[in-house]
Amino acid sequence: MNTSLRCEPVIFVIFGATGDLNQRKLAPALYNLFLDGWLPEHFAIIGTGRTELSDDDFAATLQGSVDQFSRSGKTKKAQWDAFRKHIFFQVADAKDAVAYKQFDDRIEQLNNEWQVKANVIYYLAVSPSFFEVIATNIHKAGLAAEKDKVRIVLEKPFGHDLETAQSLNQLLRGMFSERQIYRIDHYLGKETVQNIMAFRFANSILEPIWNRNYIDHVQISVTEQLGVEERGDYYDHSGALRDMIQNHLLQLLCLIAMEPPINFNADEVRDRKVGVLRAMRTFTPEEVRMNTVRGQYSGGWMQGKEVAGYREEPKVDPDSNTETFAAIKFFIDNWRWQDVPFYVRSGKRLHQSASVISIQFKDVPHKVFPSETIESWQQNRLVINIQPEMSIRLQLQAKRPGLDMLLNTVDMVFDYNGTYTTPSPEAYETLLLDTMLGDQTLFMRGDQVEAAWELIMPILSNWQGRKSINFPNYAADSWGPEAAEALIARDGFHWFSLPSKAKQK
Ligand code: BG6
Repeated sequence: MNTSLRCEPVIFVIFGATGDLNQRKLAPALYNLFLDGWLPEHFAIIGTGRTELSDDDFAATLQGSVDQFSRSGKTKKAQWDAFRKHIFFQVADAKDAVAYKQFDDRIEQLNNEWQVKANVIYYLAVSPSFFEVIATNIHKAGLAAEKDKVRIVLEKPFGHDLETAQSLNQLLRGMFSERQIYRIDHYLGKETVQNIMAFRFANSILEPIWNRNYIDHVQISVTEQLGVEERGDYYDHSGALRDMIQNHLLQLLCLIAMEPPINFNADEVRDRKVGVLRAMRTFTPEEVRMNTVRGQYSGGWMQGKEVAGYREEPKVDPDSNTETFAAIKFFIDNWRWQDVPFYVRSGKRLHQSASVISIQFKDVPHKVFPSETIESWQQNRLVINIQPEMSIRLQLQAKRPGLDMLLNTVDMVFDYNGTYTTPSPEAYETLLLDTMLGDQTLFMRGDQVEAAWELIMPILSNWQGRKSINFPNYAADSWGPEAAEALIARDGFHWFSLPSKAKQK
């Protein structure tokens, strides 16, 4: 985010405005940007959907959502009243090309009122099956003609596989320039994720050791306690590989593995990330077998509550072959990372919700201390806690205070809560602001999305083509299938898991 810039007048047209994403994420984010003074004097939010709603009705639903989901708590009357004046609703069937004329009229009307030509952001907070028709109708109605003024934002999933991602990109590029297209991966908006780049490229001590000579292996782990909840319909056609690995985890991996960019320009940064994806090893069927593990949860107990197995969840095929857990050992074939495995794993209904990156350094070349002095021994490790804990920890060996020489492992800690008093913005605040500012650094470029699909296609096809005979293969509240432990144990490592809260303090 380039904070030296202020936003120009802007009109948001939100498709799917009564849906979950707008209610839970976008509306609270826009409201917080407003409270923090980031929005320009002239801005409008035009929600659209098929339900007949007055501006007031729509504003009332947004207020309810902000009250419930905003990080700043319930709305206060004076502030909400000021925000409320910027909210409108336009009933429209997104499939009906004629309806788009109404957006043009509204936009024209606001521009005349403000005496300025505002930027327009079309936000597609809808199921991907609507992407094509909405984008085409925006284009046909001539609403995207001004390339410097108009932007389109698309939520993931971007494509269902390589072929569909390519054809969606082709369609969009025929109507919009790449500069106008904002493909969201909300992980990139997270404060701790943005900090990976600052941490790597604003400090001189890391670069000399950030390579195969010093790093043993890297682990990226995004684990969730939640099951599929109400999303069985979507999830059963997706699975952990598509839902998490193809996008969020590969984005994290790219940030860890990318070469230093020359500057912080969007395309420069994204070129460096594409460089990582292109260097990653695409698996043969045999390599898929060797380097990947899939899992599906069964029922059980979590935090004192009985929970259903995946196949018993609403709108899930009772004989489903969809994975709710994936663990993969990736390789990056370049000078920096040759022979350094990158283990990634993600899954639902696991023991703990945490997103953690662990970079394990090589062991000392020679152990000076006799074994009786070693109380605990851990090769140096840099642990980047993305959520819920927000911290960066460097694990070192140190002498325990006392008259005898006893070594144990200690943490040097940069902890957000202890260091800063200002609350961190939500990912969507960052991403919406960047969309307004026209900064695409934290958005996925078309070629990046395709490169990520290319990489996972062999795994996807292999898993889809081979029904798993042992599903479900992990219990709710566990750490996933045993085979995932074996995947990493084979190399002499184990998955990093967060110490309990109490221990961290
Ligand atoms: C979404 C996935 O992209 O990310 C969900 O579709 C997942 O299945 C979610 O639960 C996780 O996001 P976060 O921000 O809660 O880690």
